[in-house]
Amino acid sequence: MSTTAIGINAAIAVGAYFMTVRMIPRLRDMFIKANLAGRDLCKKDKPQIPESYGVLIGCVFLISMFLFIPIPFAFDEAAATDALTGGKPATFPHDKFVELIAALLSICCMIFLGFADDVLDLRWRHKLLLPTIATLPLLMVYYVNYNSTTVMMPNFARGVFGTSVNIGVLYYIFMGKLAVFCTNAINILAGINGLEVGQSLIIAASVTVFNFIELALGHQVESHQFSLHFMLPFLATSLALWKFNRYPSQVFVGDTYCYFAGMTFAVVGILGHFSKTLLLFFLPQILNFLYSTPQLFHFVPCPRHRLPKYDAKTDLLHISTTEFRLNELGKLGRLMVTLLRSMRLISWQELEDGRVITNNFTLINFVLFIFGPVHERVITQMLMGFQIICTLLALFIRYPLANYFYATET
Ligand code: UD1
Ligand code: MG
Repeated sequence: MSTTAIGINAAIAVGAYFMTVRMIPRLRDMFIKANLAGRDLCKKDKPQIPESYGVLIGCVFLISMFLFIPIPFAFDEAAATDALTGGKPATFPHDKFVELIAALLSICCMIFLGFADDVLDLRWRHKLLLPTIATLPLLMVYYVNYNSTTVMMPNFARGVFGTSVNIGVLYYIFMGKLAVFCTNAINILAGINGLEVGQSLIIAASVTVFNFIELALGHQVESHQFSLHFMLPFLATSLALWKFNRYPSQVFVGDTYCYFAGMTFAVVGILGHFSKTLLLFFLPQILNFLYSTPQLFHFVPCPRHRLPKYDAKTDLLHISTTEFRLNELGKLGRLMVTLLRSMRLISWQELEDGRVITNNFTLINFVLFIFGPVHERVITQMLMGFQIICTLLALFIRYPLANYFYATET
């Protein structure tokens, strides 16, 4: 393992942090002048806030990574020995090089597409298509360099399926969908100050901790080192953004940041060969997605914004609602709301004229439904606290529990 490369990467990340912290306030007027701004809907006077700062964070991240490109190879022992004995290094690790370049290409594409979304307000089907296309370079490199599509079976299933099963092309479909999920899942758990960056920071920190644990255990050293090279600059630039995006927000991150963050996680998950563990760190996002499905797929009416409703008198956030008549919904829609209602997972108010009012189906509204009106700062903290608990649970599932279910018999 090259600790020197990780050390230099960390030093670049620290530099990137200070550069971003200096740049964010200076560019505010430039963003507003370019009409890249949105209204903070959960404040008394709904101030105008510059939006799409993800494009700046993504650029600083890419610059850091571009500066870092030669480093892992300069400290690659085999290549360096060849260089010392004269001439071109015969054992230059082209496969590793191409992996790094393809990863950056996918992230770069996603930043570009996210920015296009912010400026042009794309439709839902584009939001699903774009990340799929941006992952193609990644999947190609995975195919050429690795191409392992086998899934380990837990002990209890080994009698039927054997120790592992090769799922072939399904594995590639899973990885393509992973990128779509990671990018959109962060974007739809949003709407209160600091939540997009807050959750991304916790996921990135969880991945970093996981990488260090695996390195300490000596498991797949190269893969986890690769992941760390992305996570440290990501953490640094996001931390700088968090300083300005947390309550009360001075800047908004835009869809650009959500896409950039999601794609960076998909990249390290896929090329670091821990895509299933990565999903464990997305537990709140998975819950939010499942809870949202009736509205996302339009079984139940979905307003343009589902963020909570602000009450100027008390300065607290209340659930935001959607309205429908039961007979307007399709069969599936009716089944979904009836189930959710019977499990007390949604609020339910029937008016005399037959209209029904329920909360919008997001995790933020669910927390407000359970705990009542809460201040914006507090609900962000509650959701971030939940994300941290989920990380601890994920690490428990990944280590003690997985060791139990996946133990190799000796
Ligand atoms: C997603 C959500 C939408 C939510 C929105 C909030 C789905 C399907 N879509 O849409 O329900 O309302 O994110 O980001 O779940 N804003 C604030 N305070 C914040 C952050 C954002 O008021 O802390 C508002 C601002 O007006 C900002 C806008 O949300 O301009 C950004 O929304 P946008 O990212 O365009 O929404 P979507 O990602 O399409
Ligand atoms: Mg958004």
